[in-house]
Amino acid sequence: MDKKDLPEFSVLPRHVGIIMDGNGRWAKKRGLPRYKGHIEGAKTFRKIGEFAGDLGIECLTFYAFSTENWKRPPEEVKAIMDLFREYLKELDDRKAENEEKGIKVNFIGDRTGIPKDILAMMKHSERITAKKDHVILNIAINYGGRQEILHSVKELAKDVEKGKLKAKDITMDMIDAHLYTAGMPDPDLIIRPSGEYRISNFLLWQSAYSEFWYSDVLWPDFTEENFVEALRAYEHRNRRFGGV
Ligand code: IPE
Ligand code: IPE
Ligand code: MG
Repeated sequence: MDKKDLPEFSVLPRHVGIIMDGNGRWAKKRGLPRYKGHIEGAKTFRKIGEFAGDLGIECLTFYAFSTENWKRPPEEVKAIMDLFREYLKELDDRKAENEEKGIKVNFIGDRTGIPKDILAMMKHSERITAKKDHVILNIAINYGGRQEILHSVKELAKDVEKGKLKAKDITMDMIDAHLYTAGMPDPDLIIRPSGEYRISNFLLWQSAYSEFWYSDVLWPDFTEENFVEALRAYEHRNRRFGGV
């Protein structure tokens, strides 16, 4: 979309989370192997990421691979990891372009389970985009919301063990500070395509007051127009945070 044709909004979420779901079903519908759906889904991820950045959304979190997704057949996991490698390479190739756009890439999730070469590329991508912060692009990989909360609590428990902190003094802000999203706004809007109405272990702590938007469209078919639909719906949400 041409910059001048970009839609305008009365209110824009600061942080949008997207559960990229429906790749497998997209492939199945076409009689293709599941990995083909992941290839198409990866294209949609690039397209929507770019579009959201152009719209001026400050922070985006894309759910790419959950801690539970290792349960899938090994060939499917491998195909997803290979796509991830490809994307990481591209981040390096497009260094200048991303710098101009001010994109800061950040990976959230448990790094211990990630293949070593990928981990090195992730660290490299984070390093080369570290100074830019016009758009924060979070990619959730080997991510689980419960595991993230557990990780944060364990970090605090270490301080308690060392006598640096008393259990009674633990605050919600402290838990927040040890999440992978520390310092970022909570997601204002969470989008889930593919006709599923669940959170699937995504940003559990952070989504306490998020607005949700669902669509039957499978992720590989998800368009900029669908994203605009979600943002239009968000414009009309009345957020109360427990107040009146
Ligand atoms: C989302 O698509 C991608 C990942 C979870 C990695 P799915 O692969 O879950 O697609 P469906 O839900 O089986 O259609
Ligand atoms: C959620 O989708 C995880 C990602 C999109 C990465 P799943 O397809 O894994 O979720 P469930 O199993 O349908 O809940
Ligand atoms: Mg799925």
